[in-house]
Amino acid sequence: MDPRQATVNHTPQQVLKDALSRYEQGKIAISFSGAEDVVLLDMANQMGLAVDVFCLDTGRLHAQTYRFLETVRQHYNLDLELLMPQPEAVSELVRHKGLYSFYEDGHSECCAIRKIEPLRRKLDTLDAWITGQRRDQSVTRTNVPQEQEDQAFSTDEHTLIKFNPLADWSSADVWSYIRTQGVPYNELHDSGFVSIGCEPCTRAIAPHEHERAGRWWWEESTQKECGLHAQNVIKIVD
Ligand code: ADX
Ligand code: SF4
Repeated sequence: MDPRQATVNHTPQQVLKDALSRYEQGKIAISFSGAEDVVLLDMANQMGLAVDVFCLDTGRLHAQTYRFLETVRQHYNLDLELLMPQPEAVSELVRHKGLYSFYEDGHSECCAIRKIEPLRRKLDTLDAWITGQRRDQSVTRTNVPQEQEDQAFSTDEHTLIKFNPLADWSSADVWSYIRTQGVPYNELHDSGFVSIGCEPCTRAIAPHEHERAGRWWWEESTQKECGLHAQNVIKIVD
């Protein structure tokens, strides 16, 4: 277990403040996609702390998600960085396997091209990143600490730290913050979507279903990590 997992839990604001004071701007950023991340952004904003924000634009996000990104960009006057996959790699995948190969042979190959390669390019420039992971999101996340060494993206020459300030928050905590603070959210949440990723790999869920039941629903729940948080499942080997 990472030694940092043993430390007492701090508020998300304390974790954020500490993280942003330890790394200079340009060396730490929020990895942004959804409800949890906009909460983190709002907290930083309320504390008057500047933070870089990037989003992996896979090219397969919902139209509503692009509108949400634009709303957030304008609301926080944000210099939002969109990270795109390598066009040649996408083109090659689609030419050989079509646009929906993940339904046949799993999401790993497409996620590797559309998410992981651009993420790795970005993380190589950072010393730390901040995510919205919560422990109760998934069976793969029950041990997520507020701060950890990123074993998936660190190298022998470059140690990368990963902050998960909302690790011990529930979905109800997140939504209470969003409602009380008037934080913008993705309109898909009003149509039964809870955990939102790419359009072909996300469906709305029924009230009794687990929040990530709508992600890669054709795959086994213990493997439902796309590689961003692969260390929750297995250590990545290059
Ligand atoms: S995922 O790995 O299964 O897609 P999830 O949607 O639960 O992750 O989000 C967990 C955290 O991963 C988010 O709070 C965010 O920090 C990061 N994340 C997920 N998707 C993206 C994305 N498209 N761009 C940037 N960060 C993302
Ligand atoms: Fe491809 Fe689906 Fe992964 Fe998005 S979530 S990158 S569409 S496999």
